[in-house]
Amino acid sequence: MTTTVRRSVLRGSGSALPERCVTNAEMTTMVDTTDEWIVERTGIRARHIAGEGETTGSLATLAARRALDAAGIDASSIDCIILATATPDQTFPATATIVQNNLGCRGGIAFDVAAVCSGFLYALTTADALLRGGNARRALVIGAETFSRILDWDDRTTCVLFGDGAGAVVLEAVDVDPADPAAPGIIASRLHADGAYNELLYVDGGPSTTQTVGKLRMKGREVFRHAVVNLASVLEEVLAEAGLTSAQIDWVVPHQANLRILDATARKLSLPPEKVVVTVDHHANTSAASVPLAYDEAVRDGRIKPGDLVMFEAMGGGFTWGAALARV
Ligand SMILES: CC(C)(COP(=O)(O)OP(=O)(O)OC[C@H]1O[C@@H](n2cnc3c(N)ncnc32)[C@H](O)[C@@H]1OP(=O)(O)O)[C@@H](O)C(=O)NCCC(=O)NCCS
Repeated sequence: MTTTVRRSVLRGSGSALPERCVTNAEMTTMVDTTDEWIVERTGIRARHIAGEGETTGSLATLAARRALDAAGIDASSIDCIILATATPDQTFPATATIVQNNLGCRGGIAFDVAAVCSGFLYALTTADALLRGGNARRALVIGAETFSRILDWDDRTTCVLFGDGAGAVVLEAVDVDPADPAAPGIIASRLHADGAYNELLYVDGGPSTTQTVGKLRMKGREVFRHAVVNLASVLEEVLAEAGLTSAQIDWVVPHQANLRILDATARKLSLPPEKVVVTVDHHANTSAASVPLAYDEAVRDGRIKPGDLVMFEAMGGGFTWGAALARV
């Protein structure tokens, strides 16, 4: 008799971007910067910026609807929505409940996760635990942000780096044979945080301190150093947990902060750059949205195919960082 294990299988993905695209050329009309500086330091060429009426909740809802369509799953059967964001529509209730109401699927679990750029990894791993534990059967995991609304547009060291958007995946609990190497689902994941680094990447406001929303502040150079070390280490951890090697990975879908971080992390793991999904050039850093946005793009353009082994990874404010390996 085969003993099965429950896994969370990725059934479909979707994404949404604000209508307005702002190129580096347009950015030079707003702040003292150049296209050359931005491209050379970050790889970013353009980003989408939310306009009036476009919010984290509205972008998340659109991404969720597209993910449900791709999965062929009706919203009414979703019993868990976890939304990762650092830019919620309201301080409370959770933007996940706004999405839940928009989708018309009432009564299930719905909450937000605050882990900034690692938020999607935190949400994915939490949803995976809820599905495997039998608390839910079908989950929407969403990363959605409107970082343009917490940027200091007078600070050229940060405002050129970020963009807005949303991405979502539908997860379904499925019993699989763990001995089958082709069995789909999330195979392993690891999350970490180290609160000692708050002052390197934070927002200088909040309900309980200043009663304001605050603006993003970052010491980019120091964040960069930590990102490469932490990401390489958590990727090794997840591979060890899965009993697999980096050579077996078909695609890496990383958080899109900076092309140089993506290149350095790939080099540390001896991963060829053509296995890394890159969207930072046209999305910039969309924080919690960047991983599901990149995943959805690579699924829709046919790069990521059913059966591929995909590594998701991210690092962000907190610091927080994490990775997850899934056969899709
Ligand atoms: C932010 C980042 C691109 C800056 O690159 P850097 O090489 O470290 O650059 P520095 O911050 O040291 O600045 C170098 C110079 O460029 C200038 N500069 C900064 N922003 C600029 C801009 N938008 N346009 C032109 N010049 C700029 C600085 O003023 C500085 O000038 P100075 O040497 O005369 O003082 C880079 O550190 C980075 O990407 N870090 C990681 C950030 C990240 O990934 N964060 C998110 C994690 S979730």
